[in-house]
Amino acid sequence: MSALASLFSPLRIGPAELACRIVSTSHQTTLVEDHLPTGDFIAYQEARARGGTGLIVMEAVAVAPSGLLTAHTIGGYLDEIVDAYRRVGAAVQDHGTKLFTQLFHGGRELIASAPRPPAVSSSALPSARFHTEPRALSTSEVEELIAAYGHCAALAAQGGLDGIEVTAAHGYLGEQFFTPEWNLRQDHYHEPARFLTEVLETVRAAAPGLALGLRLSADSAAARAVAPALAPLVDYLHVAVGNSATFDGCSGIVPPPPAPRNLIAALTGPFRLGPPLIATSRIVDPAEADEMISSGAADAVGMTRALITDPDMPRKARSGQIRSIMRCIGCNACIAHYHAGTPIRCAQNPRTGRERTLPAPAPAAQRLRVAVAGAGPAGLAAAAEAAHAGHEVIIFERAAHIGGQMQLASGTPGHREQAAALCANYQALLDRGGVELRLGAAADAGAIAALQPDLVIIATGARPAPPQQNLADVEVLQVWDVLAGARPKGRVLIADWGGDAAGLDCAELLAGEGYEVTLAAGSVVPGETLHQYARNQYLARLARANVRIEHHLGLHSAGEGVVRFRNIFAPELEHAIETDALLLSLGRVPEDALLAQLREHGSLTVRPAGDCRSPRGLEEAILEGTLAARNDLAAATIS
Ligand SMILES: Cc1cc2nc3c(=O)[nH]c(=O)nc-3n(C[C@H](O)[C@H](O)[C@H](O)COP(=O)(O)O)c2cc1C
Ligand code: SF4
Repeated sequence: MSALASLFSPLRIGPAELACRIVSTSHQTTLVEDHLPTGDFIAYQEARARGGTGLIVMEAVAVAPSGLLTAHTIGGYLDEIVDAYRRVGAAVQDHGTKLFTQLFHGGRELIASAPRPPAVSSSALPSARFHTEPRALSTSEVEELIAAYGHCAALAAQGGLDGIEVTAAHGYLGEQFFTPEWNLRQDHYHEPARFLTEVLETVRAAAPGLALGLRLSADSAAARAVAPALAPLVDYLHVAVGNSATFDGCSGIVPPPPAPRNLIAALTGPFRLGPPLIATSRIVDPAEADEMISSGAADAVGMTRALITDPDMPRKARSGQIRSIMRCIGCNACIAHYHAGTPIRCAQNPRTGRERTLPAPAPAAQRLRVAVAGAGPAGLAAAAEAAHAGHEVIIFERAAHIGGQMQLASGTPGHREQAAALCANYQALLDRGGVELRLGAAADAGAIAALQPDLVIIATGARPAPPQQNLADVEVLQVWDVLAGARPKGRVLIADWGGDAAGLDCAELLAGEGYEVTLAAGSVVPGETLHQYARNQYLARLARANVRIEHHLGLHSAGEGVVRFRNIFAPELEHAIETDALLLSLGRVPEDALLAQLREHGSLTVRPAGDCRSPRGLEEAILEGTLAARNDLAAATIS
């Protein structure tokens, strides 16, 4: 058998035959206007179809206005959806990819801003995470909703789709009916399987020619209990993990590392009930996906973020170009965009969501020389973009390895896998583009000018902000020093401004080595700029590691054996903490001295990218590095 034979064998799901077993599972793109997919949405899905995806399940499509999760949820009940489905289908199905829709009602799970619509559920039980307080649907309202599923299914059939997935995963309405502790009803919908049985029968009757599937959360005991009753009604089952209603559960919906890769494989057993099974969650490696299928854990795999990162992943895997796949690192910038209500983006692939406006670089008509200062994400992205177009690229990096701040955090549980995958992705791009990488070579103006480059990209990054406070009688280190290998003595207190992951990474690292760690957070919540799923998981791990967290404390001074803080909301309130070592995570400042020097030089074309312009995140660094190379080189090539 050839490599990845299981992954690339066809699979029949009811009336639909998938050409391969890689699935882009339902994911909200925010490429939606007036509750309908936009041209960008079509371009986004077409790219994944062209790349060889076997099945695309469109994002959650509300079956009724009361089920709109956000202002950007597609309305499956709108008459205009038929034409929209046809347009998406024309772009996707011509590539041999099957297209399903996902019929959705969030019930009490609503991410709405004011004025918020009334939330509804099986019962009037408040939901912790979104702080919604639903009313119970009346019996006739439940019947109307079931009919709405049927109406939406008929529209999907008219729109020429290949299948329909009903989602009852993630704590949404279906699960609110079959979970005994969430369903306190007195009518016949009290019976756990009743609501979904009627939904599935109604959908089947309205769209008899389409494949029909059901999505469930494999980590839900209630889902495991109800699945045997529902499996005979569908052509496939689909399992993922997570629960929107709880802080612990929601992180599982799109789990970031260190959640184990392929974690779903251990949870599929109870769902092997006859119909083909799609399994999703943290599957990023085609070989591991193939093994999941050949071992019998699943019949097909959702590789959603893997495809958000690299839409050509299936095509590359099929043809053995494994090293050229840009692997998802699980940073969750994609879902952060969804929660922010902005179009889908990938931190690593700036073309995701920009398929119409940011095409891959065209081969350069003239080979130019590009010098890049810094091999952090911005410099790596700039080098990869320029090399892809065929330019000569030389990178100067003062450290012994690529990756910048990502590499600095590579010893921590929160960043170990991300750093390794990011560096491997970019090392492969540098190798393919023939980039000259000068490690251990800090760039200076003279060395760069001596190359006589056509373009210089400054991606020198950032350094820790120095303290402005008077800090006496205590060992003081920056958390970056600790991440780089320095170790303090005795008890540790981290003064964390709360803006990024550095303080949290440091706390986790030291607690794991047996240190007694206190983290004083000068923000509303620790890790305020992190995506909520990653932040939830940091807070879970720190709690389990016995890290003491003191909230709302801004660093004031240190002396006489204590470190003094002020309450950030009530600054007249002082709080003193005893410690042996004080570690600082007070934000960053740009490393921009080289930029200033080269600008004075005058004769070179110099472009800054990433943190040296003002420290921000991975997404900005990679986007700016890409654009810095692209914009100038495209202009230079044309002239
Ligand atoms: C941006 C984004 C939006 C999502 N929206 C949905 C959705 O509309 N419906 C759904 O069932 N799952 C949704 N998910 C969850 C995915 O379908 C999938 O289960 C999850 O990303 C884990 O799979 P992965 O590790 O392959 O990415 C979303 C995921 C992402 C990243
Ligand atoms: S943004 Fe991060 S998690 Fe999302 S697809 Fe891209 S690399 Fe993966």
